Amino acid sequence: MEDTNKKTQVRRIFDSISLRYDFLNHFLSAGVDFYWRKKAIQFSGMSPKTKLLDIACGTGDFAITAKKFGVEKIIGADLSFNMLSLFNKKADWINGKIVETVAEHLPFKDESFTNITVAFGVRNFYNIPQAFSSFHRILSFKGKVTVLEFRLPKNIPVRNFYLFYFNKVLPFIGRIVSKDNEAYTYLPESVGEFDKKVDLIKVFREAGFSNVEKHSLTFGIVQVVIAQK
Ligand SMILES: C[S@@+](CC[C@H](N)C(=O)[O-])C[C@H]1O[C@@H](n2cnc3c(N)ncnc32)[C@H](O)[C@@H]1O
Repeated sequence: MEDTNKKTQVRRIFDSISLRYDFLNHFLSAGVDFYWRKKAIQFSGMSPKTKLLDIACGTGDFAITAKKFGVEKIIGADLSFNMLSLFNKKADWINGKIVETVAEHLPFKDESFTNITVAFGVRNFYNIPQAFSSFHRILSFKGKVTVLEFRLPKNIPVRNFYLFYFNKVLPFIGRIVSKDNEAYTYLPESVGEFDKKVDLIKVFREAGFSNVEKHSLTFGIVQVVIAQK
């Protein structure tokens, strides 16, 4: 899909489902998404000195988790205005800033962050290499990017259950609750396509990152990839 088409489609989907996003996220993952975000922050080794950009922050759950781990300087950024508005309304979000932008063209100075996080966002980027180059530019020396993303599990029974859940259960419930026909069909399609086409480790290396490490969570349905500048 052409860059502009994908950007427009993704923005439309997230603007449309924003009000139901948090509920569906926690319901469809049976609350395990909180655990995935926590593990990803733990693997990243953040501290109170961290300057964090949470890109594709959506309604802010990853940034809020980082804050619970003591991170004070956090900027949340996303291309969907409606998702950002909901983030802004979350009660415990006090000192952070929110910026409407795409990951591919980040409006920040060179070397201005020690860490970047992206939860369930990379799959939606319209140009992943461009986004990763942009990350590289704004990270300080030895800064880290942490990507949390779905993947197709290798284990066959787990994979079959996962495909059934993603292709049948999730679009059915998603359609009823969000009232958006496209959104929850797009999700399983984008996971399958992403897994076939994108090798995150390779794209990170090509964007200039080193020390790329990968962790698997929950029977391999989720991956955490950490890359260092
Ligand atoms: C599945 S949500 C994840 C939200 C949040 N990180 C979480 O863990 O719940 C994906 C988010 O990525 C954003 N997004 C998609 N493509 C983007 C891009 N190119 N630049 C910035 N944000 C993007 C969407 O607007 C949406 O809010």
